[in-house]
Parts: sequence; structure tokens; C-alpha cells
Amino acid sequence: MTAKPRLLSGMQPSAASLHLGNYIGALMSWKALQETHDAFFFIADLHAITVPQDPATLRENTRLTAAQYIAAGIDPAKSTLFVQSQVPAHAQLAWVLNTLTGFGEASRMTQFKDKAAKQGSDAASVGLFTYPILQAGDILLYQAAEVPVGEDQRQHIELTRDLATRFNARFGETFRIPEPYILKETAKIFDLQNPQSKMSKSSESPAGIVWLLDDAKTTAKKIMRAVTDADGRVVYDREAKPGVANLLTIFSVLGDVPISSLEEDFAGRGYGDLKKALVEVVESTLGPVRERTLELLADPAELDRILAANADRANEVASATLADVYDKVGFLPRSS
Ligand code: TRP
Repeated sequence: MTAKPRLLSGMQPSAASLHLGNYIGALMSWKALQETHDAFFFIADLHAITVPQDPATLRENTRLTAAQYIAAGIDPAKSTLFVQSQVPAHAQLAWVLNTLTGFGEASRMTQFKDKAAKQGSDAASVGLFTYPILQAGDILLYQAAEVPVGEDQRQHIELTRDLATRFNARFGETFRIPEPYILKETAKIFDLQNPQSKMSKSSESPAGIVWLLDDAKTTAKKIMRAVTDADGRVVYDREAKPGVANLLTIFSVLGDVPISSLEEDFAGRGYGDLKKALVEVVESTLGPVRERTLELLADPAELDRILAANADRANEVASATLADVYDKVGFLPRSS
């Protein structure tokens, strides 16, 4: 029906609010990509429970994440925007792919090794170990051609390609082999207090993260207190001046102005001026996102209805792929 290439990506609902790094690094690109692609975006709640979650908080965060996707411009009439656990084929395909994955192969996943090291090997669950295999299933169910992710997900996409190739070789042509679509490094946003590390939900410095749902005053305060340097010149130098470079990146992306013209505009002026102007640019982007999110949350029944309709659409595609997989591996069809 559609000639647009199929695309899929997702995020875990692991915090109440997304942050500026998610907004610039993922949501802005997703919004643009939905115009040129048959896009599927989902909330990876099955992945979220690979680390302990409080049930009420998980449910709340899932709604909040969905509302923020929509508020940031993911249009549920254009893209298919759904909650992973509402499409049973994800868990079902993951089981089949588990049986095709080598133990050593899964053991080499660096994100698992990092996360397990943080938790201690006894605390880390088997679900955390098989996380990348569930992710492979997410992608393969939709026969996605492209998967927009950050550099940190490259290894999982490689695994997905390997598993798809293996399944196809063993059981016959079934899955499309997806390509990673690695989001630009220029879209990478760093912690305002610790501009050497990526802005991340797990940051130690709350003042370093700009949450999409922070009020205008809180955001302004965080930007005004962002770490810079003693040099005083507004110049982009990622190595020598990471704090200033980060502020310039945010300004450039949200204000849609090249970094070079910002350097010119702010030549001979101090960091205070740069920060004040940045506060305005950030608020003019995030203000409407915050308002729209709150509107959506004011009517949770309507939000749930949108998600259910989108899950139905996702389920049509996913269950067709799963039926083909079940048939190919030799499961006995259930007579109707
Ligand atoms: N692992 C991804 C992340 O942490 C989230 C994710 C789960 C995902 N399944 C996916 C991303 C499938 C892209 C495609 O960012």
C-alpha cells in the first residue's frame, strides 16, 4: 500500500519525564522521519522490567512517555505509536529468537555487561541478559528497513541482523535485514553540570538534566548555572570547552541557527548573555511541549484509546510476521 520505507524505534518508560537529550537526540529526528517513512514508535515497557520497577510508577511513566512523544510531534495518525506489552507478538518472537542465540553471543553484549556490573551479577536478571534478543524481535516483527538509534545501540542492531540472517538461512526467507540509522553525533547533548558525559536519566547531578516537564523557572535556573570555563570566549571547542560547546549545540539545534553565526553574535559578550538567550530558545521549544503533555494527561481515557487503536495497527503487522515464524519453525497450527 505504502511505498515509504518502514522504520521502527523505541524508548523505555524509565522516568516520569523525558529530558532534553531525548528530545534533541531522538524525538526531533523521529518527528522529521515520520514524514518520509512508514514509522513505528513504541514504548518499551517489556524492556523496562528487566530492572526492578514499581508497578504504579511504571504504568504512570508509560502514559507520561506516550504523552510526551505526541506532544513533541509524533502524530499517532501518521506514525504507529504503541505500547510494547499491548502487542503480544513481541514476547512471543523473543522466545523463538532466544533459542537461536548463542550463550556466548549474548554474553558479548557490552550494554548488558555494563548494566550487570552496576547491579552486581546476582541482582542482574536473566531478562536483562536477553534484553537485546527482545529488541531484535521488536525490529524484525515489523520488517523494518531502518532503525534510528544512538551509537550505543549499534551492537544490538548488529545482533538483530545476525539473528535475522541465521533464521532466514535455517528456515527460509522470513525477515528483512534492517540497517541501523545512527543518529548524528551533533545531536548528542551532554549533562549541564558534567559536560563530559551524556545527559542521562541516571545522572548523579539533578541540576545537569533538563527535563521536558520541568517548569520554565527550573529550566532557566539549570541553564544559568550550567558549568562553563574560565576562558570567557563563546567559541565551539568540544575538547577544551565542553560546557560552552554543549550550550552552543543546544542553541543551534533548537534555534535552528548555525554554530558559526552564534559565535559571531556572541563574540565579545560573556557566557551570561549566551545563557540568557538560550533560556528563551529552550522555553519557546519546551513550553508548548510541556503544555500539550499536560493537556493529554488531563484526559487519560482518551490517551489510552489512542494507544489501543495504534496497538491494533501494530498488532496487524506483528501478528502476520509471527504467524509466518511459527509456521516456519514447525509449530502445529491451532485449528479454528
Ligand atoms: N534499547 C533501546 C534503548 O535503550 C530501546 C529499544 C528497545 C529499541 N527495543 C528497540 C530501540 C527497538 C530501537 C529498536 O534506547
